[in-house]
Amino acid sequence: MKILAIESSCDETAAAIVVDGRRVVANVIASQIAIHAGYFGVVPELASRAHVENINLVIDAALRKARIRFSDIGDKIDAIAYTRGPGLAGSLLVGQVAAQTLSFLCDIPLVDINHLEGHLYAAVLENRAIKPPYLSLIVSGGHTELVVVEDFGRYNFLGGTRDDAAGEAFDKVAKLLHLSYPGGPVIDRLAKEGNPAAVSFPRPYLRGTWDFSFSGLKTAVVNYVKGRTSCDTRDICASFQAAVVETLIVKTVAAAREYGLKQVVIGGGVAANSALRRAFINAGRREGLRVYLPSPALCTDNAAMIAAAAYYKLQKVNVVRNHALTHKIEPGLRLSNW
Ligand code: KG4
Ligand code: ZN
Repeated sequence: MKILAIESSCDETAAAIVVDGRRVVANVIASQIAIHAGYFGVVPELASRAHVENINLVIDAALRKARIRFSDIGDKIDAIAYTRGPGLAGSLLVGQVAAQTLSFLCDIPLVDINHLEGHLYAAVLENRAIKPPYLSLIVSGGHTELVVVEDFGRYNFLGGTRDDAAGEAFDKVAKLLHLSYPGGPVIDRLAKEGNPAAVSFPRPYLRGTWDFSFSGLKTAVVNYVKGRTSCDTRDICASFQAAVVETLIVKTVAAAREYGLKQVVIGGGVAANSALRRAFINAGRREGLRVYLPSPALCTDNAAMIAAAAYYKLQKVNVVRNHALTHKIEPGLRLSNW
């Protein structure tokens, strides 16, 4: 089954073509980092405008890579998938309208995907060994969520972000330290030259819940920097990153133990963090867990993960043709069962 997927929930305009939820034939991303970098965050109006400019280009590039002519979409593509939510309304709308139009014009089924499900299926796309049930941690710019995937499409949500998500904390700390946007990659790089034990930042474990809260940790970095005339940015990056990583590992390992799960699947932009990847691999060895991390390019937003999620959804859900026009975006969409 060949799926053409479109992702536009935030600041990446992306299109991909994936065969049988596994083989990535095309994975095209138009990044908007240069547009938003000066604001240290995504500006919704600028994001939706850039999506409008880029959406046809990324779809066209994906089709070219797959050697499919526009006029052959109806014959060569089995379904169109798009991100319905969560995300920025104006951004989501651009992807949804493009997907709906293609589905309607080419008379092929349209399937809506939750962006978080995309992150859940990024590792599945690359690893045939992953079989539910497993524990999943989604760590991105907008989410920090622990979910038990009981089966593909059947989720038990354990807990999530109460305030700043892990990626958001990286971005805000980078802004505070006058680094660049997005903050994750630059903090990751500088932390390699710093001492993670230099500053003892708090580990917000929120014991008794599976929720996460990183805004207090961010405030601890603010207060530390405020009281000093000079401090080593590399040490602050390493110490802050160590606090985030340890919090994520401790809670995830505890959840795996509590629910008796031996596979842990990570997803989302922060899963590209080198210290987090190393720490998860070590924790896996120590705890006897099989830890799966998507390759870094599939951690951050992309459409291949949306195609993978759509493939599994289409195995279970009957998508009725001609219903393309009833689809709607949902900026506050929560994870729900198929
Ligand atoms: O999944 P994603 O591309 O978009 C959302 O769905 O939010 O995640 C973006 C987030 C940003 O906050 C960015 O700073 C963070 O992922 N990120 C990283 C790294 N690469 C991206 N955080 C830590 N270390 C990284 N190497
Ligand atoms: Zn994402």
